[in-house]
Amino acid sequence: MKRLKNKVAMVFGAGPNIGGTVAHFLAREGARLVVVDIDQANADKTVEFLRSKGSEAIAFTADSAREDQVAHVVAESLKHYGQIDIVFNASGKIHWSPVTEMDVAKWQECLMSYSTAGMLTTKHAARAMIAAGRRGSIIHLLSTAAHFGEASGAAYTAAKGALLNFSRSAAMDLAHNGIRVNTITPCGMEHNLWGQMRDEIVDPNFRRPERRSFYSRDDFLKSIPLERFPRASDIAWAAVFLASEESSFITGADIPVDGGLRFKYPAWRPGDSTGVNIKDYAKELRITRFGEEGEKLLP
Ligand SMILES: NC(=O)c1ccc[n+]([C@@H]2O[C@H](COP(=O)([O-])OP(=O)(O)OC[C@H]3O[C@@H](n4cnc5c(N)ncnc54)[C@H](O)[C@@H]3O)[C@@H](O)[C@H]2O)c1
Repeated sequence: MKRLKNKVAMVFGAGPNIGGTVAHFLAREGARLVVVDIDQANADKTVEFLRSKGSEAIAFTADSAREDQVAHVVAESLKHYGQIDIVFNASGKIHWSPVTEMDVAKWQECLMSYSTAGMLTTKHAARAMIAAGRRGSIIHLLSTAAHFGEASGAAYTAAKGALLNFSRSAAMDLAHNGIRVNTITPCGMEHNLWGQMRDEIVDPNFRRPERRSFYSRDDFLKSIPLERFPRASDIAWAAVFLASEESSFITGADIPVDGGLRFKYPAWRPGDSTGVNIKDYAKELRITRFGEEGEKLLP
């Protein structure tokens, strides 16, 4: 049986990586979709993909950090479908800078794009759910940045940390309406590392970026107990669970999707004893879009 039959889901930040894959998996479980992205081409591509699979979907171009735009797309979605049951929010723009060099405008833009966007999508979708008498599920995508300090990552860690605690408070505010608010925490995603893996393996002149928090892909892989990076499909499965009735008694929670990274002893590198390495790993990798495997990463 389809787990999200008769549900309507909104995905904010829905390019072909995480957001588009979540949209695909929610649609596969029977949900009708609203796809929202600041980049019209990304929203259109995702809707085109969903329709090619026989799913019902509409696209909007909007900035999740702008209240007028979020209010508008929520109102239009409610008008179109008559209900909203699920929200998945993955929007945002990272800003790397050491604290001593922090540019206030860039800091604010980063906080707006993750934390304020989280608040606005929750506020307007929850109002719509209440108005339509729906007991909905709202899911925000975090990052290990919500839980740890990261050199040059103060703007991002502050934004994701704020979104984590915002989500817990929103869960309390909305519990009596039967609306649940949860988060998912991935570590660095496999698709985000494709380019760097290629460079690190194939380019003999590869040099680490200047950023102090940068570690090699091999170091990163060796530190993950389950010995691989998270894929968009891993996030999408967690999102389907949080969106469905199977998680109906779970609210204010954070699901780590990080292969055990957050819970290991920090100095332990499991890969040192098992011999996993980035070259062998990357040999088998395939590029995925919307959770579907395509060409091999390396020639
Ligand atoms: N990629 C990683 O390694 C990684 C790791 C941990 C967490 N995350 C989180 O995943 C999310 C990014 O997902 P992705 O890897 O698929 O990245 P992506 O860049 O492929 O997708 C992000 C999408 O969000 C859209 N977007 C950005 N700002 C927006 C805004 N203000 N309003 C509406 N849409 C907006 C972009 O146009 C894009 O389509 C972010 O929340 C990020 O913090 C990513």
